[in-house]
Amino acid sequence: MSAQPEAPLPQNAGPRIAAASPAAIAEAAAMLRAGGLVAFPTETVYGLGADATQDGAVAGIFQAKGRPTFNPLIVHVPDLDAAQALIDIPPAVLDAVLSLWPGPLTLVANQRPNAGISRLATVGLPTLAVRVPAHPVAQALLRAAGRPIAAPSANRSGNLSPTTPAHVARSLGAAVPLVLAGGRAEVGLESTILDVTDPAHLRLLRPGGLARDVLERFLGPVERSKPVIDDRAPSAPGQLASHYAPSKPLRLDAVAAEPHEGFLTFGPDAFNRGGALRRNLSAEGDLAEAAANLFAMLHELDQAPEVQAIAVMAVPDEGLGSAILDRLRRAAAPRP
Ligand code: TXA
Ligand code: MG
Repeated sequence: MSAQPEAPLPQNAGPRIAAASPAAIAEAAAMLRAGGLVAFPTETVYGLGADATQDGAVAGIFQAKGRPTFNPLIVHVPDLDAAQALIDIPPAVLDAVLSLWPGPLTLVANQRPNAGISRLATVGLPTLAVRVPAHPVAQALLRAAGRPIAAPSANRSGNLSPTTPAHVARSLGAAVPLVLAGGRAEVGLESTILDVTDPAHLRLLRPGGLARDVLERFLGPVERSKPVIDDRAPSAPGQLASHYAPSKPLRLDAVAAEPHEGFLTFGPDAFNRGGALRRNLSAEGDLAEAAANLFAMLHELDQAPEVQAIAVMAVPDEGLGSAILDRLRRAAAPRP
């Protein structure tokens, strides 16, 4: 177990965290074009970006995260036109995609010939995952870089996803030289991933920041499907099962907490239920607020010295609650 109180990073052990001024964005774009890594804000979580057209740059992502190289990356572009230069978006879904982008939706579709994306990013698949983020700093950076940017969440593989620059610095340390700061990630959950390769069978590969009922309002019914990399498959023994995990044991559906536990609650009925430290995802029972708070509160309980384990109250399995439960179940999965 690596449960440790939060200690300030030594001066030379962390990345530079820079407010996202025009000068900082220009510098970050130049670093990306030169093949370097930059962490940047998106509305879902902070991303660890690299030029998706350069093998060496993409390799740097896998190295900095300690990420298994069989897990493909999402490529970020500023708008629909840039996305269509990379993938074939079926006409049947175009209108819906126009309404939902920019936003927390990733499309998996067939790559166009000469898309120019590094095979390391796609792990050699004929398909590619593409997203148009809404965060203004991400938008400015993508336009300044002028390249498609591969970006997984900016944390060591298997750790909790980052929703603040401090989370990035704590998880990646000096493995990333620069973090562009753009406040707290507003959505707080990674994007919803939809496979549109076959428009007659739209497949939801990962529940996420765009709730399924909203998605279905625009696109009609989607099938829940296993991701291309099934991170619970026995063929990849436990490698990714504990994705999004805090360092402390976590139990779900808790009604009350033990004195040694941190208690992550939801809704108004969270008083007098024990716990060494309590955080409420949303006292009003608002699932969007709960999603935005999820990773930050898990980080906080994980760092608190008086907390030895984390108990989580039930969250309704509907709307964004389903994506929250997906992340919590992974966080509670046994560690490799
Ligand atoms: O919100 C997000 O999506 C964040 C921010 C930074 O944009 N990014 C993110 O990336 O969550 P990451 O690397 O954690 O998620 C990538 C996932 C892979 O685990 C894989 O399941 C799926 O996207 N993926 C990527 N390429 C794919 C492909 N060609 N086919 C199917 N799934 C793919
Ligand atoms: Mg991640």
